[in-house]
Amino acid sequence: MTKTVDPSPGAARASGPSIADTLARDAIAPPAPILQSQYEFLGDDDIPVERYTSHAYMQREMNELWPRVWQWVCREEHIPDVGDTYVYDIGRHSVVVVRSAQDTVQAFHNVCTHRGTRLFEREGCGYSGGFTCPFHGWSWHLDGSIDTIPGRWDFPHATEQTHALRPVRCDTWGGFVFVNLDNAAAPLERQLDVLPQHFAHFPLERRRIKLHVQKRLPANWKAAQEAFMEAYHNFATHDAPNGGNTQYDIFGKFVSRFIHNIGSYSPQSLEDYPGDKWRRPALTEQEQLQMLSVFGLSSDCVPEGDTARNVAAAELRRRLGEALGTDLSGVSECMMLDSIEYHLFPNMFLFPGVNVPMVYRFRPDGDRVDHCLFDLLLLEMLPEGTPHPVPPEPVFLDVDDSYTQVQALGWLAPVYDQDTDNLMLQQKGLSSAAKSGVTLGNYQEARIRRMHMTLNEYITPPESQP
Ligand code: FES
Ligand SMILES: [Fe+2]
Repeated sequence: MTKTVDPSPGAARASGPSIADTLARDAIAPPAPILQSQYEFLGDDDIPVERYTSHAYMQREMNELWPRVWQWVCREEHIPDVGDTYVYDIGRHSVVVVRSAQDTVQAFHNVCTHRGTRLFEREGCGYSGGFTCPFHGWSWHLDGSIDTIPGRWDFPHATEQTHALRPVRCDTWGGFVFVNLDNAAAPLERQLDVLPQHFAHFPLERRRIKLHVQKRLPANWKAAQEAFMEAYHNFATHDAPNGGNTQYDIFGKFVSRFIHNIGSYSPQSLEDYPGDKWRRPALTEQEQLQMLSVFGLSSDCVPEGDTARNVAAAELRRRLGEALGTDLSGVSECMMLDSIEYHLFPNMFLFPGVNVPMVYRFRPDGDRVDHCLFDLLLLEMLPEGTPHPVPPEPVFLDVDDSYTQVQALGWLAPVYDQDTDNLMLQQKGLSSAAKSGVTLGNYQEARIRRMHMTLNEYITPPESQP
């Protein structure tokens, strides 16, 4: 069969059933936002390699992006009680978030207003009755107001107006605490865009952190997160039996999404993937179910006329529903099985699915242009009426450590290892500058382009700089 390729750029799609086709065959329809689809062609120019390799570009991000954008710091369950703190570092910037009253979360620069010493040395959770600088002992109340200045007689010029802790904008959504270092920034809702509407169906505040893994990756923070914004690499990197049928949506300048079906693998045609190496024949529903064995299913038979997705979702609803103490009987196959991934500019990923419930964050590792920190959380559903338990301590993996050291990651561990192996090779290749730009697919890699277009709005072009 010869496929007709639409001549308008971005309009072509892989052969085989679309996500919408698969969802239409499922037993339970997903929530309305999952059925929305939104894409437009954004251009096909290369992305300059210097964005991933240049220290000068990194400095521009540090001066013009990170101090002006809303970014996720921690979960509210990290700071449940008055006096609980969470320190968050982004490049050379550091912020301390504190629950200063039962219903109030505030944030401050993690910097003494006397001579600039860091108040807290390390990122992460803590408890504080107030803030005290280790150098000369100045101290502040939880709301940032001055408590004591030792030898106050010498500082008549240090007042509440001039020497309270420097406040940082702070807001919450979905159980996450966000900060923005720019006091003039637009409110968080502007950046969240469609997320509150979409996540009304999957309230993330009713989830708990099951696992937190932080790994140092050998790549620029953008290259690292871009590896998670497309499923185009699945067949070559993960030897996954599905190629191009993932759906990509762009909901404005800050939010994008992909939906990647699990348990409905379409054949890869010779036309889309030339050569036998990548070719995959069509699978029967029975074979599709066998592909889902990573979920530890006990069902091994698809009844006549049914689908592997329906069988797998039915078992997971029962099993996970029991384990989580939650009634999942009305949850769609898509929500039970699929990899549904939202990206919030600049660096946050949210998965509303039940069985694939991750949150990602990518950010620079200090001031290194070719390394980054990747936080990976599993957010498990919390039964109604159950309080949030104390979050687990993060597990730290350095560049050479394998995800397989973290048993709780299960089948995901080797997948993340495959992704991170690529990153080292990509960063090395980019640094050798054989080509001045990175080329993107019109559809499958459009989310990456959208991210760079929004980044352009923050970073002053070199020709406009003084
Ligand atoms: S530098 Fe903080 S009290 Fe002096
Ligand atoms: Fe991957």
